Amino acid sequence: MIKTSNSQTLHHRRQKLANLINFPVILWSGNINPRNFPANVYPFRASSHFLYFAGLPLPNAAIRLEAGKLELFIDNPPPSSALWHGEMPNREQIAEKIGANAARPMAELESRLEGAATIALQDAATWTQQSQLLHRWILPQQPPQGIDLELAKAIISVRLTHDAAALVELRKAAAVTVKAHKAGIAATPTAKSEAEIRAAMEAVIIADNMTTSYNSIVTVHGEVLHNQQYHHLVNPGDLILADVGAETQLGWAADVTRTWPVSGKFSSTQRDIYDLVLAAHDACIAKICPGVEYEDIHLLAATVMAEGLVDLGILQGNPQDLVEIDAHALFFPHGIGHLLGLDVHDMEDLGDLAGYEEGRTRSKRFGLGYLRLHRPLRPGMLVTIEPGFYQVPAILNDAHVRSKYEKIINWQRLAEFADVRGIRIEDDVLITDNGSEVLTSELPNTAKDIEEILPQISHAAKVMG
Ligand code: GLY
Ligand code: MN
Ligand code: MN
Repeated sequence: MIKTSNSQTLHHRRQKLANLINFPVILWSGNINPRNFPANVYPFRASSHFLYFAGLPLPNAAIRLEAGKLELFIDNPPPSSALWHGEMPNREQIAEKIGANAARPMAELESRLEGAATIALQDAATWTQQSQLLHRWILPQQPPQGIDLELAKAIISVRLTHDAAALVELRKAAAVTVKAHKAGIAATPTAKSEAEIRAAMEAVIIADNMTTSYNSIVTVHGEVLHNQQYHHLVNPGDLILADVGAETQLGWAADVTRTWPVSGKFSSTQRDIYDLVLAAHDACIAKICPGVEYEDIHLLAATVMAEGLVDLGILQGNPQDLVEIDAHALFFPHGIGHLLGLDVHDMEDLGDLAGYEEGRTRSKRFGLGYLRLHRPLRPGMLVTIEPGFYQVPAILNDAHVRSKYEKIINWQRLAEFADVRGIRIEDDVLITDNGSEVLTSELPNTAKDIEEILPQISHAAKVMG
């Protein structure tokens, strides 16, 4: 059995929740889901809310929390299981490990549901079971209501800032992620395809007995924001955009992006844009401290990007005015980042309840609507800072965009930057009592430092492989 956070940490988390609500809570862990036939299954990932309070990724389990006490519901493995899966701990052993106050078979859960709140899981098998047992619809795509909403808000307030045990895990995920990115950079001179670079990066994560916290993006087409294809060959003029993060065995995530030149040296146009994205990244991190509005961090990135694009002759106008009409979002169409924790977009299963301070809703503006976090920052929060520049054909070739921004974009000048399809620089930033700490700072991010660790290769050597 894997090592969990110590039971004092888990007890403390349960007590914090108990201080906020006065009704029982049932949290399901989720089912193991088959691929095409029952014996061949997808890797199991427990619900993050379950993991936070139970501390172990137990499949087909549930916990009941009330007044700081935990009852565990799980079935013992059938006798035949030892043949296929080896000896597994039994219910009592698991209960002791997580500091449960009682442990019962799953069938007894039904008698302990009265007045209980819950949170919907994403997998249909579990939310169907949740709905049947609780006699009301528990649907992941619908905002929670009544006591379920109260529970969601209470859990958010507990999970929004990280305790010491969580930070130990988050630092481990960050460290392995840094190693993975270094391996990706080191593999580039001899790699023929995106897939080979991805393999080098994920090999590090797997070798540390971790998993990826989301599907890796390792691509020469960084302009496709969630690109998950790895078949392209990598050529000397290309930039590799790698957005890869590790997740510890207890489920804590990292989320890091670096962009580097395949040849070992940025072209002058790539370098101009890279330095601009880095300037936005650095300005945002310099501004982070308790009390600062995350939206203002986003707007700062937008302003730095607009100023830089004006300086480069790509945009025309007053940078502040350009931001107000969302011109920055033509090239930086996503938010500056998000919460990070057990989920890579932490607690996004609850829609915007976690990301948005109560009473706030998404802006309808193109340049603000994709912002996933709109709260004042507090010590113990972990966020990403991930500005980017992309030439997205779906945006830049859109007839409406072209007519609205016709006079603002210098298209001829933009064409000179054709070798910059997508650049993003993403780090994981902890808000501290008086500023911030970048958990992923061991990974170089200046163009100069990246070029230094990336041996240059000649086109000929690359082609000859
Ligand atoms: N890796 C997903 C993101 O950066 O938000
Ligand atoms: Mn991210
Ligand atoms: Mn990312």
